[in-house]
Amino acid sequence: MCVKIYMNMINMQQGLEIKSEKLNKISKEIIDCKKCILYKERITPVFGIGNNNSDIMFIGEAPGKNEDLNGFPFVGSAGKILDELLQSIDIKREDIYITNILKCRPPKNRNPKDNEIKCCSQYLDKQIEIISPKIISTLGNFSSKYIMEKFNISPENINKIHGKIFIVGAFTTNIMIIPLYHPAAVLYNQNIKKALIEDFKVIDSVLKKID
Ligand code: URA
Repeated sequence: MCVKIYMNMINMQQGLEIKSEKLNKISKEIIDCKKCILYKERITPVFGIGNNNSDIMFIGEAPGKNEDLNGFPFVGSAGKILDELLQSIDIKREDIYITNILKCRPPKNRNPKDNEIKCCSQYLDKQIEIISPKIISTLGNFSSKYIMEKFNISPENINKIHGKIFIVGAFTTNIMIIPLYHPAAVLYNQNIKKALIEDFKVIDSVLKKID
């Protein structure tokens, strides 16, 4: 094997180890986090999971009942829909990184409150910086609004912006933001599934271009 390829592999391996160490450190901080009241009722904080070196990061809203029990994001009914959508473009969970804005389940799955997003997004911001994805796909209104504002794009309702590509300058590179409907919305409105299938095709074509 030529020396250059070997050195690139070593650097990649070291980069992955550093990312894992940094992410582990944050996941430990979350266990003891008392920045908002959500720690009081949740069972398990849900940090995020997947390929730390993925080109694409999905950001949902908050853990639900199953996620709270298991400690992993999107393992309930919304997760099943997400898996189908990923499968439709031949992507596996192991290929992506996935997390939520809130790491603790809001009681009775109520909407996140502004102060909870403000406290918890500090963790999400660090995850984005460490993973440094080329694409961020936000799932639903809450994560779309947060990410659009973070990157200085005026936020609009998900009905208007889903499946569109917003390119923003971040850290040392550009990030493509692709807002999507939340997979759980399909449980109430089957038309949303058609839109999600189309929007996943957008993700597929972008991923193929950056390969
Ligand atoms: N909905 C979310 O937004 N996140 C999860 O982890 C599960 C359901």
